[in-house]
Amino acid sequence: MRLVTSIDEMRRLCKAIRCEAEHQTLALIPTMGALHEGHLSLIRAARKSPDRVAASIFVNPLQFGPNEDLSKYPRTFEEDCAMLEREGVDLLFTPTVEEMYPAGTQTWVDVPEIGGRLDGASRPGHFRGVATVVTKLFHIVQPDRAFFGQKDAAQVAILQAMVRDLNFDLEIVVCPTIRDEDGLALSSRNRYLTAEERKRALVLSRSLRKVERAVAEGQHAASPLYDLLLQELQTADGIRLDYAEIVDPQTLEPLNDVICGALVAVAAWVGTTRLIDNILITPRKASVC
Ligand code: PAF
Repeated sequence: MRLVTSIDEMRRLCKAIRCEAEHQTLALIPTMGALHEGHLSLIRAARKSPDRVAASIFVNPLQFGPNEDLSKYPRTFEEDCAMLEREGVDLLFTPTVEEMYPAGTQTWVDVPEIGGRLDGASRPGHFRGVATVVTKLFHIVQPDRAFFGQKDAAQVAILQAMVRDLNFDLEIVVCPTIRDEDGLALSSRNRYLTAEERKRALVLSRSLRKVERAVAEGQHAASPLYDLLLQELQTADGIRLDYAEIVDPQTLEPLNDVICGALVAVAAWVGTTRLIDNILITPRKASVC
């Protein structure tokens, strides 16, 4: 695995990969490090096709609000490198903040409507930071495919809109959420949780599973499903709900029913840690959607 810190060198190496062989494609897995099985599942998905694989580790200051966890965000660089090396990543891009945002940088990429919903509503400016850094990474690497986890469903919706609106010549591949055996969705932030908090955090996946079961049993109206979700979320002590929503997976707008598919998404504070989770309900009656 080649480690690269400069934008110019990364551009040069990615270009060389793209020119190497006719059918060879380049995949990108952007990350902020503190890697876990969720990230590794993205790399394994990328390696299933004849892609060469580039990953990035960059804790992007633009997507953290003033009172968020930028300074304490877990940084586990040595372990991350070893994991990526084991998974057969070809190039690892780890620029500094100065390399990515030299003095005088002033251009933002904003997806204002979708970017203001779900996490965007509680973390103003977050998705503007994500869209800006991902745009830069796309321009630097020029991948054929970029891999993201379904766990960050709002991020996926924003990046898909951005790719569509700005005509990026690449495919976004979304991979399923990876969970621990007890149902907790993997997240770099899980390592902040105490053992007690970790137990409490299970209410997120539990509440989503309840909704999933109710849909499977025939409940398609959003309002009773929403009541069920809230009811379950309220059973846990020491949890502060940020949002619980049933929305269109692309526009993130609230839905009246889940017949044409839906994203059921929750975010909650467990102690001082903010966790998110979601499930996708697949369309019931594709013919009417
Ligand atoms: O999902 C993440 O880890 C980040 O938001 C991303 C996509 C790497 C951009 O910084």
